[in-house]
Amino acid sequence: MIAKNSRSAHRQLGREVGIKGRAEHLVRVLRVLPHYFRLKSRIEAAGLDRIREKYRPLLTGESPALAKGKYLRLGGYLRRDLSRAVELGLHDGEPLKVLDLGSGAGYFLFVCEYFGHSALGIDVPARDDEPRDRQIMHRFYADMIDLLKLRRTFGTIRPFEALPSLEGEPFDLVTAHQVSFHWDNLPSPWGVSEWRFFLDDLRSKSTSNWRLAMTLNPDMETGLLVEPEVRRLFEEEGARIRGWSVTLEGH
Ligand SMILES: C[S@@+](CC[C@H](N)C(=O)[O-])C[C@H]1O[C@@H](n2cnc3c(N)ncnc32)[C@H](O)[C@@H]1O
Repeated sequence: MIAKNSRSAHRQLGREVGIKGRAEHLVRVLRVLPHYFRLKSRIEAAGLDRIREKYRPLLTGESPALAKGKYLRLGGYLRRDLSRAVELGLHDGEPLKVLDLGSGAGYFLFVCEYFGHSALGIDVPARDDEPRDRQIMHRFYADMIDLLKLRRTFGTIRPFEALPSLEGEPFDLVTAHQVSFHWDNLPSPWGVSEWRFFLDDLRSKSTSNWRLAMTLNPDMETGLLVEPEVRRLFEEEGARIRGWSVTLEGH
């Protein structure tokens, strides 16, 4: 259940995107439609039906995390990630090395590879002691990654812990979509020191003109995207913050 103040903060974040932001998004979606149909048919030809059959009974269960089988509705995820890729200029630029944090089912990795980039995902490993819906979700992610022949390694982003050295370093672009590692399962959300450590670690694994593009899930209790002092840190680093997205360019 999202608290009342969180709801209004969600609305506030939505307002920050504004009519202009929504119109730009619509234009991007229209631009990506030809790619969308090509990608969708590739995924279907790879054997998506087998995965759908396997997970339909599991992913439509009682758990809110798996609500209404949303993970099986490919179309919305593909359009969303294509639109993100176009916004980042991945549809007509030089081949890049991309690292996607919290890569989930790998749709964004697939879109990157489709546009000729080399993409590596990183996500938490499945654990036997986690709740059943999480285990199912992680098995689903693993099957999708295999189906789409993507590269994904395991790793957990934790405060003040550097990521392991990764195949493909240095990266030109680091992405993280719909992630909440900065507050999920923690006593308190990440502050300035945690974010500074994280940014420095990514910087050490990236080229000098790297970019970072994140879409952060707001904290469910406070509704804040990040703490106000962290927002100031991002701004000092030259980040562009709009709605849920934080984009930082090369230094
Ligand atoms: C809401 S899903 C988003 C998946 C994908 N990025 C997308 O946009 O569809 C959040 C992802 O972050 C991963 N994740 C959660 N905590 C993490 C952590 N501490 N380190 C790395 N990945 C994490 C989850 O396993 C999941 O794949």
